[in-house]
Amino acid sequence: MAKDSSYYSGEKYNSLAKKKGYRSRAAFKLLQINKSEKLFSKNDNILDLGCAPGGWCQVAFENIGFSGSITGIDILNMDMIKGINFIKEDLRSLNMDLIKGPKDIVISDIAPNISGIAFSDTMNMIELLEIELSIVDKFLVKGGKFLAKCFEGESFLFLNKEFSKRFNSVKRIKPDASRIKSNECYILGTDKNN
Ligand SMILES: C[S@@+](CC[C@H](N)C(=O)[O-])C[C@H]1O[C@@H](n2cnc3c(N)ncnc32)[C@H](O)[C@@H]1O
Repeated sequence: MAKDSSYYSGEKYNSLAKKKGYRSRAAFKLLQINKSEKLFSKNDNILDLGCAPGGWCQVAFENIGFSGSITGIDILNMDMIKGINFIKEDLRSLNMDLIKGPKDIVISDIAPNISGIAFSDTMNMIELLEIELSIVDKFLVKGGKFLAKCFEGESFLFLNKEFSKRFNSVKRIKPDASRIKSNECYILGTDKNN
């Protein structure tokens, strides 16, 4: 039977994730971004915000193994993954002392629960992005990278402006594994300027 484009941008990755042992289809977004942007290097210390169920942690571990460190934070529980230090916390009330040491890369796939009320969904997203930026300001090393999810519109404009202040290079990315119909996209900042 012929498949429409939503199959190729969506369902294909659900079955591929099962087949390849990834905990989420989101793993393919990071695989694709890493392939084009070469995010990870051995010895990196990585912080994954909104990490559950763990697909991005799996991809990070495949790339650095035990050579550096990977810390994941999520409001939900996450079944253990080899090599991942998991912190179960709500970012909005996070005790920053739980994050140990400087980070070379911060990756974030966080999105708030969507209510369908556009204004409050946007405000909730921006609230989370502001917290992510405060974590980046505190823990990301000079020269470090930050990959964050946002949505076309207000949150993209907000994040693009904030990234431009902090990073020498800023790029919008829409990986193939991100559904065409979804207005999510990612912003990658590289070479943090202080
Ligand atoms: C799209 S999922 C992340 C998927 C993950 N990248 C993967 O590959 O498995 C977004 C995550 O953000 C988390 N999240 C949303 N709001 C949060 C908050 N306030 N604090 C911490 N985590 C949050 C959700 O619980 C959810 O697990």
